[in-house]
Amino acid sequence: MYEGLLKQYKDYLPITDQTPMISLAEGNTPLIPLHSLSKELGITLYGKYEGLNPTGSFKDRGMVMAVAKAVEEGAKAIVCASTGNTSAAAAAYATRAGVKAYVVIPDGKIAMGKLAQAIIYGADIISIPGNFDEALKAVRDIAKTEAVALVNSVNPYRLEGQKTAAFEVCEQLGQAPDVLAIPVGNAGNISAYWKGFKEWHDKKGTLLPRMHGFEAEGAAAIVKGEVIEQPETIATAIRIGNPASWKLAEAARDESKGHIDSVTDEEILNAYRKVAAQDGVFVEPGSAASLAGVIQHVKSGKIKQGETVVAVFTGNGLKDPDTAINATEVKISKMSDLEEMRMHLRNGVSEL
Ligand code: F0G
Repeated sequence: MYEGLLKQYKDYLPITDQTPMISLAEGNTPLIPLHSLSKELGITLYGKYEGLNPTGSFKDRGMVMAVAKAVEEGAKAIVCASTGNTSAAAAAYATRAGVKAYVVIPDGKIAMGKLAQAIIYGADIISIPGNFDEALKAVRDIAKTEAVALVNSVNPYRLEGQKTAAFEVCEQLGQAPDVLAIPVGNAGNISAYWKGFKEWHDKKGTLLPRMHGFEAEGAAAIVKGEVIEQPETIATAIRIGNPASWKLAEAARDESKGHIDSVTDEEILNAYRKVAAQDGVFVEPGSAASLAGVIQHVKSGKIKQGETVVAVFTGNGLKDPDTAINATEVKISKMSDLEEMRMHLRNGVSEL
């Protein structure tokens, strides 16, 4: 039986005899071949579907490790700032480990499903009028004076857990892809993947991919080379103007001969609708930044025809039902009559 990341990758993680082996069976997510998009783009494209983690995002990988270490070190409470997914994961793993979670979120700028998760898992939820960057600054300060463990990705154990996704990609493909495309918000995940690919390269001899990271245009601090004071994007998960792992992300880009570019909200929404409608995979808008970037880079030639590309789909589309409904033309035909229904189907089917 699969028992989660701490057991699966014990030898590659900072685990001691004292580390509690907590698990919600996170990790082991599918690498889904995207047939329709592959054909259209002229590449071999896969989605690493992190939305199938227990709380619906990749955050579970880092959180299981960070919470286990916090408990090992005697913490009774954890704290994080979050655009939503980190708070959901923190709340779930805190419950699992028997500690309390405090989560700090930007008021009104978190997707409904994520808020619902923090509520149902029983976190102490604090909402602030500022954005994620301000929330992160606040919790970093608070963790210095209070007896709480900070579990944002500035906690190195988070990146340790998250690097396991790169291990899985290599195991699933039997090799690293040519390109790993990934959304960039606080820039922890791109840094974690790169660490993972390098470790697998050293231990298993797999190749190294080019890392292609994508920020939302209204929050593209790394691309523009400056802090964005008021980041804005429909992809609230990556609405971040001062990424904590900025330097690590640039190192991943440069060492791998990759790129960090930006995608517009329009490109994000286009990719978001396309992957659901053409390949049957529902991701959240922030996650669609990776695919939006792949489409952009195929056009610009930064990704070449025939290359193998893995796009990381960081979170589940069900997290943000409002965007799914508001950003798509909703076609619902109201009918209460069986004959009307029959004709509707008959006409529809005859056109196929
Ligand atoms: N995709 C999703 C769905 C996310 O929730 C995040 C970050 C990212 C991508 C970007 O990853 O920050 O490592 O570059 N969400 C954080 C949160 C900030 O609070 O849930 P990153």
